[in-house]
Amino acid sequence: MASSSSHRLVFFCLACLLFTFSYNSVAGESDKVKLNLYYESLCPYCQSFIADGLVKIFDSDLHTITDLKLVPFGNAHVSDNLTVTCQHGEEECKLNAIEACAIRTWPDPNVHYWFIRCIENDTTNWESSCFAQYGGEKAIKDCYSSDLSKILIFGYANQTLSLKPKHKYVPWVTVNSKPLYKLNDLVARVCKAYKGKASLPKICHSSALSKLPESKVMKLQVSYADEDFNYQAEDLN
Ligand SMILES: *[C@@H]1O[C@H](CO)[C@@H](O)[C@H](O)[C@H]1NC(C)=O
Ligand SMILES: *[C@@H]1O[C@H](CO)[C@@H](O)[C@H](O)[C@H]1NC(C)=O
Ligand SMILES: *[C@@H]1O[C@H](CO)[C@@H](O)[C@H](O)[C@H]1NC(C)=O
Repeated sequence: MASSSSHRLVFFCLACLLFTFSYNSVAGESDKVKLNLYYESLCPYCQSFIADGLVKIFDSDLHTITDLKLVPFGNAHVSDNLTVTCQHGEEECKLNAIEACAIRTWPDPNVHYWFIRCIENDTTNWESSCFAQYGGEKAIKDCYSSDLSKILIFGYANQTLSLKPKHKYVPWVTVNSKPLYKLNDLVARVCKAYKGKASLPKICHSSALSKLPESKVMKLQVSYADEDFNYQAEDLN
């Protein structure tokens, strides 16, 4: 009797400790900063943003306060007969669908991000290298060859087309639903947007890291919905 109640007490205290620990160190899901990337698979500017920009989130502790959603649709169109046409052709539609299926297969961004990054880093040979590195081949191929991939793409189409304000180009990034026009402010904006109770990730206190390095991302170009334009993202601000 005494021993069972002391066991219960120990268990209770452990639970308290665990609760306190997770409460202090992990951002609650609802507090996380909502970071959405609207992109399409074969757009070079999207590829460099995925490789050099988004990597900051997963290379650092920033992912602990970030709720990243990748939305692979971009400047594609859905016609009245529900045919999807992609800016960079059929292959882009295919890779968007594969990536949609990867997100479905691995809902954790810290898993699907790396797979998608792997595809975008080598859109020619990804199939042999990325499945070998990350697995998921059966689940992703089954999804791709079924109606599920179409349903997922229509969902992403809907999310992209209901953006307010509408996206003007890709990569289009929103932080808590507001467009991020200066893509190299990504880290600083996510840190600033966080209003939760967990302590801020270390990267937020590092002035050197809160800006992305003077890399490709600084000079990142964008792919307009209307391809006649090709300004630099910086010109828009
Ligand atoms: C769907 O519509 C597009 C034009 O809007 C046309 O090119 C295409 O052939 C149509 N596809 C089918 C299956 O009817
Ligand atoms: C990117 O692809 C090249 C081959 O095209 C490969 O050598 C390199 O390791 C890849 N990098 C990443 C980060 O996957
Ligand atoms: C389309 O998107 C809106 C807003 O994001 C959502 O409320 C609606 O349920 C979606 N519709 C479909 C068919 O997914």
